[in-house]
Amino acid sequence: MYFIARRYLSRQSLARDERWYALLGARTKGKLCAVDDFEKLGVTPVIATDDGSEGHKGYVTDLMEHFVAVTRGFRWSLRLYGCGPEPMLEKMVAFAKREKVPCQISMERRMGCGMGACRACVCKVVDEGRPEGRVVASCREGPVFGADELTDGPWW
Ligand code: FES
Repeated sequence: MYFIARRYLSRQSLARDERWYALLGARTKGKLCAVDDFEKLGVTPVIATDDGSEGHKGYVTDLMEHFVAVTRGFRWSLRLYGCGPEPMLEKMVAFAKREKVPCQISMERRMGCGMGACRACVCKVVDEGRPEGRVVASCREGPVFGADELTDGPWW
């Protein structure tokens, strides 16, 4: 996520009405990472910890839902990017589909070969001809997928 923000912001500076937020979640304060790095880019960190030692107490997905609900009042054009544990990503994708918010996630599968041979990284994507979805190697067809490309999960 840091690299997306850095790459975007290295190409263009923030428009006057544009805001970037990094919703960061961790089990506890000591497990948070890149908070200062995001701040240096001009990205505002918004934090959730499972134990409440920093920021919102609870899951970052709860924070995301609240954040999106609040920002809807500002009529912002929202876009979500996610990486992290798969249950969190599944929840994020379901939320993005339900709320019709553009969203991309990075599928974090173990990758043995990185070239489509070992099938360690497979996930299910939407296939109009198959209600159960189609299995693809995320190393070949991802690892970044749009929410609308993915089945409702589980993805394997
Ligand atoms: S890592 Fe081997 S098929 Fe994707």
